Amino acid sequence: MNSLLALYKSSIGKKVIMSLSGLFLCTFLVVHLSGNILLFKNDGGVAFDAYAEFMSTNFFIRAMEIVLFAGFLAHIVSGFVVWMANRRARPEKYERYKLSENTGIASRITMLTGSIVFIFLVVHLRTFWVTSRFTNVGHSMYDRVREAFSNPSYDAFYLVALVLLGYHLRHGFQSAFQTLGLRNKKYIRLLDAIAIVFWLIIPIGFATMPTYFFWLNCPWFTH
Ligand code: HEM
Repeated sequence: MNSLLALYKSSIGKKVIMSLSGLFLCTFLVVHLSGNILLFKNDGGVAFDAYAEFMSTNFFIRAMEIVLFAGFLAHIVSGFVVWMANRRARPEKYERYKLSENTGIASRITMLTGSIVFIFLVVHLRTFWVTSRFTNVGHSMYDRVREAFSNPSYDAFYLVALVLLGYHLRHGFQSAFQTLGLRNKKYIRLLDAIAIVFWLIIPIGFATMPTYFFWLNCPWFTH
């Protein structure tokens, strides 16, 4: 117990928490994207609504939701603490005169993209999760998604956020495996290939959803 506490208090311990929670959140993205693909089933939302109903009522899923939110919290808090510690450790002169050589730039951009993804997440949860769990219980989630994505500004916001999510995952994935000591010659090619799935394929997969509903609702689009 004491050694666990000591690990948490050390800066490497916080980095390990940031990495493990980040990788855990990546697995959520795979599950979330796979379920959301039902939006494309072209059955008026029947399959997607059944899936959404299952997600909001199944006991195991509800319990996993708590673990998921704990994962987000651990990632955000440890990310912020590590970023603050790096900031404090960075000498002023170095920052001012050697900006181009400063590897801290990537981590600063990661902090920025992470913060915008966080804002995206708050808006996203407000639109879908709060309605599904509290304000619109029993109503069609498919209709909610269709309605939300009929707003072009909302779609544009999603597309920008997904590009930033891609950037965040690109750097985050690399540095997570670096922290865990797995980014060595033996695994580097495999890890880079898996990373592409996360920072490129998954954000593109999510981006197809607002794009699809935008076209579906588009006045120029003839059905
Ligand atoms: C762009 C396509 C997306 C669509 C159509 C979508 C749709 C939804 C819907 C309908 C819900 C409520 C689900 C339920 O009833 O359980 C939900 C929840 C959630 N979404 Fe998304 N989502 C998208 C992208 C994302 C992205 C990119 C992230 C993360 C960066 C994300 C994170 C979450 C989280 C954390 C929840 C709450 C957890 C849960 O209950 O499953 N979503 N989303």
